[in-house]
Amino acid sequence: MRKGSIVALLGLALLAGGVATAVALVPVWLPLDASREAGRIHFVIWFVIAICIFIFAIVAAVMIYAVLRFRVQEDDFEDGPPVHGHTGLEITWTVIPFVLVTAIAIVSAIVLSRNDAQAQDTLRIDVVAQQFEFTFSYPDAKNITSPVLRLPKGRSVELYMRSLDVIHSVFVPQFSQKEDIVPGLVTQLHITPTRLGTFPLECTELCGLGHSLMRTQAIVMEPSAFDSWLKDQEKSAAPASPTTTQSTTTSSSTTPISPSAAGLSVFNQNNCASCHTLSAANATGTIGPDLDKLVSYAKQAHQPLESFVRNSIVDPNAYIQPGYPKDVMPQNFGQLLTKEQLDSLVTFLVQSAQQSGTK
Ligand code: CUA
Repeated sequence: MRKGSIVALLGLALLAGGVATAVALVPVWLPLDASREAGRIHFVIWFVIAICIFIFAIVAAVMIYAVLRFRVQEDDFEDGPPVHGHTGLEITWTVIPFVLVTAIAIVSAIVLSRNDAQAQDTLRIDVVAQQFEFTFSYPDAKNITSPVLRLPKGRSVELYMRSLDVIHSVFVPQFSQKEDIVPGLVTQLHITPTRLGTFPLECTELCGLGHSLMRTQAIVMEPSAFDSWLKDQEKSAAPASPTTTQSTTTSSSTTPISPSAAGLSVFNQNNCASCHTLSAANATGTIGPDLDKLVSYAKQAHQPLESFVRNSIVDPNAYIQPGYPKDVMPQNFGQLLTKEQLDSLVTFLVQSAQQSGTK
């Protein structure tokens, strides 16, 4: 091979590699990494991209060189020389990809096993997914629950995830991990947050009409702030409402709660607003029936208002308001509530509906 050809090939390879590197580096392709696991995953991504750029540079250089240098002449109808393989070249193009792919496999295996490795003081958080919300509870802190995932920075956290209905999937882009939540299984996800902040947490498995609304937040807090948040939640969960283990996330007052305020908090905790409209709760969902119209719905269903509301919660498919889909309201929703929660929710809905009816 002539010296000039080698210089030309090298120049083309550098040019192609430079262009590919610019495409990889200049647009911001990846979200900020906010966990140790995300940092490792991003390392694998960059490792693979570097290999791809290397291969691309070689292939592009040879192709461009061949097109320019061996272009057929206008009046040349000859076949090229007969070539029957080249053992050295074939070994080379087998061995190099083999080594590269093996390297990717080894690096990925190391990252996967490190990402799953829990530390000594791993914090357990239970996650319940259902159409169309997530609930996070903290078994080490009297099982207080939260609609938002709160994490202490720098601590190893393991999510234990269950679904009450269909397959969901949890994803925080800044943590770079996705894990399905499958009915009948408890799936796990290990996270070690490294950056303070509020990040979107969303469902990434099409799980029904409200899928696009099934989103909340992951908030990474300083460990001290996280501990005091947990304590506050434990306090407000215990004495304020002895009949429920759920926390009131909006108020920490210890004054007795009126039935309709209790009903409103059940409404909010269960994320009813993602599907229903109800002016008393500032809710504007449009997937399920408009709860401001319960009085007229009950008339259409020929049922007294209160038992209509109660039946619709306990057995949602028993009567479907025309124009709204069946099987969307969680069938087991009534069983998830305590009797007191159910009563206060019914009272709240009946009162609000009567008020909207008289407006
Ligand atoms: Cu849950 Cu999509």
